[in-house]
Amino acid sequence: MERAEYDRLVDEILEHDYRYYVLADPAISDEEYDRMLRQLGEVEAEHPDWRRADSPTHRVGGAPTKEFPPVVHQRPMLSLDNTYDETELAEFDRRVRDSLGLDAVEYVCELKMDGVALSLRYQGGALVQASTRGDGVTGDDITDNARTIRTIPLRLRNGLSDVEVRGEVYLPTDEFRRMNEARIEVGEKAFANPRNAAAGTLKLMDPKEVARRPLAFVAYWLDDRYNDGGTQWHALELLQKLGFVVSAHRRLCRSFTEVLLFCEEWEEKRDALPYEIDGVVVKVNRLDFQEQLGYTSKSPRFMIAYKFRARRAETILGEIGLQVGRTGAVTPVAILEPVLVGGITISRATLHNADEVRRKDIRPGDTVVVERGGDVIPKVSGVVLEKRPPTAVPFEFPTTCPVCGAILFRGAEDAITRCENAACPAQVRGRILHFASRPAMDIEGLGPAVVDQLVNAGLVHNAADLYELEPGRVAKLERMGEKSATNLVGAIQASKARPYSALVYALGIRNVGETTARALCQRFRSIDAMMSASMESLMEVEDIGPVVAESILDFFRVEENRNLVERLKAHGVQTESAAAEALEAFQPGKFAGMTFVLTGALERFSRNDAAERIRAEGGTVTDSVSQKTSVVVAGPGAGSKLAKATQLGIEVWDEARFLAELGE
Ligand code: IVH
Repeated sequence: MERAEYDRLVDEILEHDYRYYVLADPAISDEEYDRMLRQLGEVEAEHPDWRRADSPTHRVGGAPTKEFPPVVHQRPMLSLDNTYDETELAEFDRRVRDSLGLDAVEYVCELKMDGVALSLRYQGGALVQASTRGDGVTGDDITDNARTIRTIPLRLRNGLSDVEVRGEVYLPTDEFRRMNEARIEVGEKAFANPRNAAAGTLKLMDPKEVARRPLAFVAYWLDDRYNDGGTQWHALELLQKLGFVVSAHRRLCRSFTEVLLFCEEWEEKRDALPYEIDGVVVKVNRLDFQEQLGYTSKSPRFMIAYKFRARRAETILGEIGLQVGRTGAVTPVAILEPVLVGGITISRATLHNADEVRRKDIRPGDTVVVERGGDVIPKVSGVVLEKRPPTAVPFEFPTTCPVCGAILFRGAEDAITRCENAACPAQVRGRILHFASRPAMDIEGLGPAVVDQLVNAGLVHNAADLYELEPGRVAKLERMGEKSATNLVGAIQASKARPYSALVYALGIRNVGETTARALCQRFRSIDAMMSASMESLMEVEDIGPVVAESILDFFRVEENRNLVERLKAHGVQTESAAAEALEAFQPGKFAGMTFVLTGALERFSRNDAAERIRAEGGTVTDSVSQKTSVVVAGPGAGSKLAKATQLGIEVWDEARFLAELGE
């Protein structure tokens, strides 16, 4: 092969790289590509002196290094001023406008990628040096590692020759998960989060290993000297033309309100992205304004990071507790040193099951990462192994029930360990609490503490026993007294008037929630009819499939359950459809005709659950506040939606009010 032919082959492969990795629009098959790459490798083996700095063969990684030589940055890599607060963001805008003497300033909003900053230097159009930020003045030369990142161009796509580009290296979320799973499998440490994984990978001494990890790069800064458009917006366009990936989610904002909207939009949508972001970077668009605003000793005055509330935090796991539910499921629970995550204090988190604890090797005494996702339920996402005390020993899942001592069983088909002793006090307690809960028999005053006392005193073994309680006996319990005893017994007796469907839900049949209970009661007008129903007739009910039908049959097959129903019936609990109940299904809900907007963080609900409750009461939930909005439910962190509601004079409820309106 001639030298010119070699050059053509390099250029051709670089072009295919660009189409594949940057544009996601390949022009040739993978086989064809591999064939070209192999050919290139062969030519370079024959003519090592031909190998160009931008040859795609660098992508697979070269020889390992012993150290990363220091690089002094041409201009320091500063840090970024940040805020978690919209008021402070507004102050930033005000400072900018005051300094420039303007009424309004144009901003570019970009997503703040949660990764590692990287500086790239190109000479003669080829990538010659990549360095980490280091202390801002001096970083590490990690060029060989950076060359393996497919979205870092080895050669620029237009005339620019000597330029510096900066951006963020990150690991897409699903790649992060896959990588951690693979690491756990072979007994390696899992990374706490994608950013740690990206940082750890960039610092590997073996570029071949780096090449195996799917890091990505997004560019956000270009040397001003090459920017003929005079704006940050233009810089991003130029970067794209040079062959870089820039964030698709950027916005040129002509007013500060638009900036706020962008921030809020992405705080809400962040979970839908395939990578993690920790905020939005707001930048003054015009470069001459940027220059005018200048720098403090640490950071530019012309940009700011609006950071989202952290979704995770580190804390110490004191011990692993065990919770026995009403179905006998034994769930390990992390008892944590209280920590603030996303505005809410977390002191317990479910660890799901024995496998999960083993897989993540979570040990009492460990420092763990606690996370709140889009949902409210916190989870322990991993262990910070560097902080493990030497005394920490692996957790042994017990073989007997921590409450009643019965041998625990583990189903073959699920990961759940169960106590199968139906008389286990923890299960009895769970079943009674469920029976008394609001959507079930709604018995006021029958909370965890009282139920514990009733069960421990041997007064209550099942729900039917509740209706035989005498005030005199109840009053003898600790912290009870005559008055509360009378009230409690009164509330229990009053629950006999609860509708038949509430009773069916209250029984705690596996897989039968409120909706299913209601549907069942519409089809089977009495509990006797339901108890003798066949598999086929159960499955005729809407949304009931074989699994749910089987749970219902299972429940009524157990003699104790049939006896329970008989006793409840004897006590006068409603076990038939009243005419009124048939009507109830058609009655409009509390929120019929009302339109709601949810904003900010709610403690008791996820957004979805809150919306579901509103819909269940006949209301509508929308995204934006307008004249048509009836109520805005606002939690901590509510921003422009709340402001708009106030401006329009729309009613605003906090979470407590919302709960009260729901009747809780
Ligand atoms: S501009 C003065 N734009 O956030 C530094 N930074 O917390 C100016 N980052 O070191 C950086 N996405 O690593 C900028 N779109 C973006 C960014 C971004 C992520 C990182 C960057 C910076 C850190 C500051």
